[in-house]
Amino acid sequence: MQAFNHEIARTSSPAGMRYQFVSLSLLAALSLSAFARLEAQAHSQPAAAKLSIDSSKIVSPVSPMLYGMMTEEINHAFDGGLYAELLQNRTFRPSWMGVEHWDLVRNGSAQASMHVDDATGPSAALTRSVRLTVDSASPGSEAGISNSGFWGIPLRAHTTYKGSFYAKTDAAAIGPVTARLIADKTGAVLAEAHIDLKPGSWSRYEYTLTTTGAVVSSTTNHLQLSVAHAGSLWLQLASLMPPTYHNTPNGNRTDLMERMAGLHPTFLRLPGGNYLEGDRLEDWYNWKSTIGPLVDRPGHQAPWSYYSSDGLGLLEFLEWCEDLKIEPVLAVYAGYSLKGDHISPGKDLEPFVNSAVDEVEYVTGDTSTRWGAERAKDGHPAPFPLHYIEIGNEDNFDKSGSYDARFGQIAKALRKAYPQYKLIATEPVKEPQGAEPDVLDDHYYKPPAEMMDFVHHYDNAPRTGPKIFVGEWASMSGVPTPNFGSALGDAAWMTSMERNSDLIIMASYAPLLVNLNPGAMQWSPDLIGYDALSNYVSPSYHAQALFAGHLGDGTPESSITGAGDRFFYSATFDSKTRILHLKLVNASTSDQPLTIDLQGPAKTHTASVVSLHGSTYEATNSMADPDRIAPKTTTEAVPPGSWHHTVPSLTIQVIDIAIK
Ligand code: AHR
Repeated sequence: MQAFNHEIARTSSPAGMRYQFVSLSLLAALSLSAFARLEAQAHSQPAAAKLSIDSSKIVSPVSPMLYGMMTEEINHAFDGGLYAELLQNRTFRPSWMGVEHWDLVRNGSAQASMHVDDATGPSAALTRSVRLTVDSASPGSEAGISNSGFWGIPLRAHTTYKGSFYAKTDAAAIGPVTARLIADKTGAVLAEAHIDLKPGSWSRYEYTLTTTGAVVSSTTNHLQLSVAHAGSLWLQLASLMPPTYHNTPNGNRTDLMERMAGLHPTFLRLPGGNYLEGDRLEDWYNWKSTIGPLVDRPGHQAPWSYYSSDGLGLLEFLEWCEDLKIEPVLAVYAGYSLKGDHISPGKDLEPFVNSAVDEVEYVTGDTSTRWGAERAKDGHPAPFPLHYIEIGNEDNFDKSGSYDARFGQIAKALRKAYPQYKLIATEPVKEPQGAEPDVLDDHYYKPPAEMMDFVHHYDNAPRTGPKIFVGEWASMSGVPTPNFGSALGDAAWMTSMERNSDLIIMASYAPLLVNLNPGAMQWSPDLIGYDALSNYVSPSYHAQALFAGHLGDGTPESSITGAGDRFFYSATFDSKTRILHLKLVNASTSDQPLTIDLQGPAKTHTASVVSLHGSTYEATNSMADPDRIAPKTTTEAVPPGSWHHTVPSLTIQVIDIAIK
């Protein structure tokens, strides 16, 4: 059973190797060969088909949590993405290139220098700072530093931006600090604020910058912090936040949250993915360093090549769920790192077992518990809902075979402390030693043609063992976001997950987000693309939003004969609304005529038909052409008995039929 269920099809990693950055040329080649196969298959003319559905006979349940989201810090998904912070490298981390994303400002005749001072910082987590040494400056000849944001600072008219920084100075007379938002192209000052300084040791300062109606939305802006007098000023944790979704403090970008809400998700798998594990053992997702005041968060080296600020930390993940009215699927670290090392089960693993138990308490404990109280101190007294805990990520890559014992040790401790939660294993546990997983997490990344050929994988799988969570899946064609060929593969795959949702209780596409700027992306394709100001969604996004937004609670008896081999369908029935949600996927380049026998409707009913069509497999959306492929709604009369309906070529349709 377990061996049957678990397969990881990784199209982007050479066999035997753990994660690799995606080579664009490899992806391009992969896409081409995938398309060649799809095209060849598509030319066989589908015959007229007969589809029979009897909504009065429900053969299996559909999981209410089938569609969710998976997230991690990849492709600048959080820093430079969802997390609303506008300043890049706000903690002045030095590299061989200097303090990246910060520049020294010397206006007019000002004389000044900046360097990293390892000897002073505002907290135990941020022990260093940047020191601005001003030898001479005056009004009009200011000295300071400027930040170019995450590929620009996005500004809009009539908007208030909340700035803050920690500063220390030996002479307050160096100030005040002037904060300015400046247009890169013209040097025009778009907003300005003055912040008086206190002499002495570290203090936190806040300011606001409000743009006028004259500001035209753009990303070509920067922030400047400057002074007009000589002296020394140490700065740390310089932040600039725009308005956030639901005005959540330290929150998220509104447009991306709205896009996620549009997916109709029921859960968020967090915090990864590889991001849970880290490249080296010391890079594990130590959630305790991601909570509390920002000044107490050191950040950490994330596996996708850049450093994470951890501004979007554990509490922010949970608030993200709360804002979208969904629940977390919490992954706890299980002692394995991407480069292949693991923590030995037993005494060595014990601190990580305790960390997992504490983490669940932070999420769910009331304020009388140690970590529930800590969460309340962090601003959220109410516990969060939780039903599923995942132990590790993709531990099938651990060739030492230590996962059975690592899973067992963590699972036993979690079960003892929280018997009410379901535990997810990332590979079949061969010797569970009394700690059997409730659910297995299977991952599938496949070219669209393979995804279509894979749709019967779970049809005859035994229903007696653990349930299945398809915690990562995607049809792999299209850069940076999936093209219509992928959307067809994804839709085909979703019909199979819906049909098998008595077994597959949850599923989440991955990755979700990609910053489109040069150098920001490590993996492709990704569901939603964006720059600092705007976003667009892929055809796969639309397919997923349609499938999740039209889902019943049971699968009725159905059968099909005579359809082309690139035709897929799903029927689910909502027992409360009595609506039959019919999904029809025609991945062929020929139309698919259907005779649909519907048991149920007694009279002609006008059904809504939402269609997603692409002219070719390669057709796609982009920032320049965001709505090339978008759902279109029509209506169609559905008579009682037999109904003749044609699904156009290269089309995904979702049809709601009232069964009254
Ligand atoms: O989704 C990208 C990566 O694929 C995830 O981090 C990892 O779990 C999988 O290998």
